[in-house]
Amino acid sequence: MLNLILMGPPGAGKGTQAQRLTAEFKLPQISTGDLLRAAKQQGTELGKKAAGFMDNGKLVPDELVIGMVEERLQKGDTNAGFILDGFPRTVAQAQALSAMLEKHRMRVHRVLVFDVENREKLKERITGRWSCPKEGCGAVYHTTNKPPKVPGRCDNDGTALVQRPDDTIAKLGKRLGEYDSFAPAVIAYYKTLGLVEGMNGDLNPDVVYGQVKKAIGQ
Ligand code: AP5
Repeated sequence: MLNLILMGPPGAGKGTQAQRLTAEFKLPQISTGDLLRAAKQQGTELGKKAAGFMDNGKLVPDELVIGMVEERLQKGDTNAGFILDGFPRTVAQAQALSAMLEKHRMRVHRVLVFDVENREKLKERITGRWSCPKEGCGAVYHTTNKPPKVPGRCDNDGTALVQRPDDTIAKLGKRLGEYDSFAPAVIAYYKTLGLVEGMNGDLNPDVVYGQVKKAIGQ
């Protein structure tokens, strides 16, 4: 069993690396951002409550996100492990996750923290990102770093690619502010448990994936 947490500022490469891990190790990628966007699109109660926070680049309140993750972890596809992408983001979320896992005699094995020193790069990555909206696909592209074979179309299924509404310079600033306010305490929480591995997210995605595999002993 391999239970991983991927942390890092917006555009650090959490989703990109999670998709690679999922493809190689067949572990489900549980992205709280993706789950919240799906809830928003479906117009569920959770989605309606979360929308205002997400649209403003703010963290969605803990109680909403924790309940959503608890439900997701019970889906039955996590027997071999899971990759949490973008959760936990506050100490309250980290503590709730520990309690959830303890109930099932499970634990987190590694917390991979992706960092990109030059934040100008994050702007470039975020504003150039396009992704496939098709359920079950979600492939991520970049206009220059990882362009699709046919412009504007997903390589896997030909679906028209979309940009996220929070992928603007103004909202990125707010999202980074939230990360800087809350992430250090979460990283400190996992450091005391000896689980943190730093990843240099500045490097080419293949090189970053090499670091990821080394960190998880593969
Ligand atoms: P979420 O969807 O999690 O967004 P985020 O954390 O801002 O992260 P991103 O998805 O933007 O970045 P990423 O690191 O995955 O980058 P990617 O690999 O795609 O959250 C959205 C919102 O939901 C939050 O603002 C909040 O409101 C809410 N939310 C979510 N979780 C929450 C929680 N736990 N609690 C409360 N609220 C929550 O890469 C980006 C681009 O760069 C791509 O185009 C990619 O191709 C490219 N790229 C990736 N790696 C590299 C590389 N090494 N070199 C060059 N290009 C690269």
